[in-house]
Amino acid sequence: MERRVFLGTLAAGAALAGHSRAAGTDPPLRVGLIGCGWYGGVVLKAAFEAGGVEVVALCDVDTAHLDSMGELVAERQSKAPVRYGDWRELLDHEGLQAVVIATPPHWHALPFIEACRRGLDIYCEKPLAYDVREGQAMVAAAAQASDAVIQVGFQRRQAGAIRQAAQYIQDGAPGRIVTAAAQIHYPAELKDPTPKDPPSTLDWDRWCGPAPKLPYSEQVGHFAWRLEKAYGNGHLVDWGIHWIDTIRMALGLGMPRAVTAAGGLYDLKGRITTPDVLQVYFEFDECPVTWNHRIFPTAELTPETNIGMSFFGEKESVFLNDNRFVVAPVDKDAERRVVEGKNDAQAAHLANWLDAVRTRGEVSCPPEDAFQSTAAVQLAMVALEVGGRVEWDDAAKAVRGNPQATALLKRDYRGPWVHPGQS
Ligand SMILES: NC(=O)c1ccc[n+]([C@@H]2O[C@H](COP(=O)([O-])OP(=O)(O)OC[C@H]3O[C@@H](n4cnc5c(N)ncnc54)[C@H](O)[C@@H]3O)[C@@H](O)[C@H]2O)c1
Repeated sequence: MERRVFLGTLAAGAALAGHSRAAGTDPPLRVGLIGCGWYGGVVLKAAFEAGGVEVVALCDVDTAHLDSMGELVAERQSKAPVRYGDWRELLDHEGLQAVVIATPPHWHALPFIEACRRGLDIYCEKPLAYDVREGQAMVAAAAQASDAVIQVGFQRRQAGAIRQAAQYIQDGAPGRIVTAAAQIHYPAELKDPTPKDPPSTLDWDRWCGPAPKLPYSEQVGHFAWRLEKAYGNGHLVDWGIHWIDTIRMALGLGMPRAVTAAGGLYDLKGRITTPDVLQVYFEFDECPVTWNHRIFPTAELTPETNIGMSFFGEKESVFLNDNRFVVAPVDKDAERRVVEGKNDAQAAHLANWLDAVRTRGEVSCPPEDAFQSTAAVQLAMVALEVGGRVEWDDAAKAVRGNPQATALLKRDYRGPWVHPGQS
């Protein structure tokens, strides 16, 4: 037995709440964008849809990306934004009120902390940071800038099906959730890993910035950096982090007290530097959460649950992803329900930030919360590297009794950049 329901009201309500800004009479918010790649464009489009913004400045280290983002902005507003190659100059732009940070993760911490010092409102993409100590320094900087409205880009918190499923779980019908599992199995899109000269429009040295300067190849450059250890740190940190964040939100979890990881490169060796097979066991106080991925090309046996999360409760199991949740009762005679929803999460998350900027209100993903989701997956990668289980002391914000893992919480910066965190 199975019943299908279409989810409408909750998702639409969430998105519409934010669209009020467009109808208001406030002067537009003067926004700058640092990082004009794929997702910077997605975020800007969502901001234009929410309304009430003027993009006054763009920054990138690739002039081709500045050109294309300039064209996107020109479709939406008559005044051309000023273009910068150095984010410090963008932050100096006169009259700037808010900044969107959509650079790769190794370039989040320094612009974020500087924007906090200037009291700017911030929308920063996930993951919060490249390493744990950067993340802590960002949380501390945000706390100092207590008047600033800061949202981190875990937009799936706003997806209609996810919101409704989280509420359903919190209301208690599935009973106590004994364990949760998340996975994203998909064939990664790979590029050519052969070192070559970077495109003439790209300043590779500045792109690498505080991170190690690896020889340029298409597989570590734009977009593809996700699966490079020195930049994106792999599929769990890049994409899986969304599910870990969603599970934390749905179950009200803080930091795991221990994380165990196993995996490696079994098919894509020589192509990427992060695991193509990974399993992680997060021990949260409330319940264990597992993560699983396979990212080599393979035929999937259960495509309908390849990308998503499962919550196993005493009375019901709940599977969910961006568009859909499925409820399967333990009672075999009870009917199974499928709830379908529209995914308008990105528009809603941006609108949520812009509304909070206007009202000086709360955002759905503040830095401390983003830190916990980010640090959880970073600890998984640390556990993988040290070969076992890593215990986290959340009060001390430290790994327990493991100097090798402790050393991995903070990586050395490439000069002249100085790491903002403490050892
Ligand atoms: N929330 C989501 O669902 C989601 C989805 C995709 C990407 N993201 C996040 O968005 C961010 C950007 O990802 P992307 O896919 O757009 O990558 P991308 O490689 O397409 O774009 C990154 C851009 O940043 C620029 N850049 C690098 N260093 C810079 C610097 N010092 N100053 C200014 N610009 C610099 C690059 O030249 C490039 O144009 C990442 O943090 C990523 O994790 C989030």
